[in-house]
Amino acid sequence: MMVRAIEWLNGKLRILDQSKLPREQIFADLDNYRDVVLAIREMRVRGAPAIGVAAAYGIALGASGIETANKDEFLAQLQQVMQAFAASRPTAVNLFQAIERMKKAARGDGVAEIKNSLVNEAKRIHQEEVTATKQLSQLGAGLIKDGFTLLTHCNAGPLATAGYGTALGVIKAAKDQGKRVSVFVTETRPLLQGARLTTWELRQEGIPVTLITDSMAGYFMQQRKIDCVIVGADRIAANGYTANKIGTYTLAVLANAHGIPFYVAAPTTTIDLSLTSGYQIPIEERSPEEVTHIQGVAIAPEGIDVANPAFDITPNQYISAIITERGIIRAPYTEGLKEMGSRFL
Ligand code: MRU
Repeated sequence: MMVRAIEWLNGKLRILDQSKLPREQIFADLDNYRDVVLAIREMRVRGAPAIGVAAAYGIALGASGIETANKDEFLAQLQQVMQAFAASRPTAVNLFQAIERMKKAARGDGVAEIKNSLVNEAKRIHQEEVTATKQLSQLGAGLIKDGFTLLTHCNAGPLATAGYGTALGVIKAAKDQGKRVSVFVTETRPLLQGARLTTWELRQEGIPVTLITDSMAGYFMQQRKIDCVIVGADRIAANGYTANKIGTYTLAVLANAHGIPFYVAAPTTTIDLSLTSGYQIPIEERSPEEVTHIQGVAIAPEGIDVANPAFDITPNQYISAIITERGIIRAPYTEGLKEMGSRFL
């Protein structure tokens, strides 16, 4: 693993502050669950699987800070901790899957036992994401041919997963299989996860990377410079419609228009079979300053109206395959995802 984005160390949560990368590599030791909620909201920890893992550890941290020895009182306070995490970011379903797992793990004869069980469950959730992202990367690498140039959007590497990565994991696994690969990375406005984080991670892996602005993708597809697009996901509905970083839908339509395969790579913790349609996925609206400012510098007239949806939905007809740790799913997605659900989830 290239970098430990999230680590449980001596009863505290150590995170690598992703908002400071690549200029500064700053680790923060969080000993209070409110700081973890804030780190998720402010995207110092970000990426769907990483948010789930951070929330699980954050809940364990919140539990350890509850002082009562009365089990009912403890469980009532724990419920509030979980609610704070549920309200931190709405789109990535990994967060809610992790909260559900932690709820179920809150069992034991006494408070001390429950606290212990929560730490162990958070560690399990983390380890499972590491294993799942590694497995899906190896499976997905089979879709990548020697000499491919891939295009990816946002950041779906170890930072975003607290594991091996999803889209970037597939690219890295292809390289490890001896394939020559290179990557076009879209900068990913407004918060520049592509420019700041994906280029940083790929460079550390020694994978050739070309940074482009979001608006250049169509040009390079038309020039036949892109062999496939691969992205991560924040939530995949039962019909395969996929929420991912804003701009993903545009890339999927462009890829379709140019006959370029478009792959989504995600662990099954990103699948939400409770939603029949992707259009039911809640889309986070973030602050206008993320659009009017770049790294604190104003780039737009003061007081201008701004829209800032953080994610969009890609309909399933634009998705060539969904790569998970349990297999690669192709259309018809409703059937494929349901079968996977009944078999494994
Ligand atoms: O707002 P972010 O940076 O948390 O959004 C992240 C993404 O959209 C990623 O592409 C997605 O979570 C996949 S991470 C493996």
